[in-house]
Amino acid sequence: MKIVVIGGTGLIGSKVVQKLKDQGHEVIAAAPATGINTITGEGLTQAMVDTAVVVDLANSPSFADKDVLEFFEASGRNILAAEIAAGVQHHVALSVVGTDRLAQSGYFRGKIAQEKLIRESGVPYTIVQSTQFFEFLGGIAQAGSSGEAVRISPAFFQPISSDDVAAAVADYAVHSPCNGIVEIAGPERVRLSDLVRRYLEATADSRRVVEDVHAPYFGAELKSDTLMPGINPRLGSVNFDAWFAQSSTSR
Ligand SMILES: NC(=O)c1ccc[n+]([C@@H]2O[C@H](COP(=O)([O-])OP(=O)(O)OC[C@H]3O[C@@H](n4cnc5c(N)ncnc54)[C@H](OP(=O)(O)O)[C@@H]3O)[C@@H](O)[C@H]2O)c1
Repeated sequence: MKIVVIGGTGLIGSKVVQKLKDQGHEVIAAAPATGINTITGEGLTQAMVDTAVVVDLANSPSFADKDVLEFFEASGRNILAAEIAAGVQHHVALSVVGTDRLAQSGYFRGKIAQEKLIRESGVPYTIVQSTQFFEFLGGIAQAGSSGEAVRISPAFFQPISSDDVAAAVADYAVHSPCNGIVEIAGPERVRLSDLVRRYLEATADSRRVVEDVHAPYFGAELKSDTLMPGINPRLGSVNFDAWFAQSSTSR
């Protein structure tokens, strides 16, 4: 099959591109650096010719509230219009577990808009909602930081490695669209504050985690299970210790 991976140079995108190529598919890694830009439209029509599946793994370059919403709305509209014109038969997108419960957050309002455009497009689709990547723990700590203190909610989450995410996304891309949401998660349920504390200790970061039930997660206050998947997610196999042992962060 010919498969276009939007954001194919990113953390998840580059791994998905490799996995699909290894399976013998013709894969286009679409990103501004490869001449395909979902905001300006550059290269998009050409990339879609004879394409069976589009996998959208792009992310907004800026996390400012207005920028994220504008990015996912413009990018989603342009990608889906190009797919309809070319007769693409499956749109796969990576979103976040709990997105619909996180509307207090500007970032998640962008993801809600992205998912809505997909559902209303008429293009057969699979929305893969993932829990937080282990690779994102540093970003979560940074977002909660003020000087030496890192305010983090003790809510539960079930983080996953980028390798497990990429394996799941590549798998869904070559199966039939489910026209709904599938959830993926890591193998262990942990508290956000506990894992950020372990991450900072493991990376010899002197900042101190302050557990706070009101600490916002990218603008949204969390309930105990806001970031948790439902009853039957596809589970990855890599836990924090295994991920950290092979991660470049540990070297
Ligand atoms: N972080 C988490 O824990 C988490 C959890 C669940 C789901 N997700 C979702 O996973 C997705 C992928 O995340 P990631 O961490 O792999 O992202 P990433 O590493 O930041 O990569 C983003 C990709 O998007 C591309 N891109 C940016 N602007 C573009 C444009 N105008 N046109 C085409 N491509 C563009 C980038 O290309 P350049 O590098 O050339 O700019 C890059 O290839 C996101 O949608 C995110 O919401 C993240």
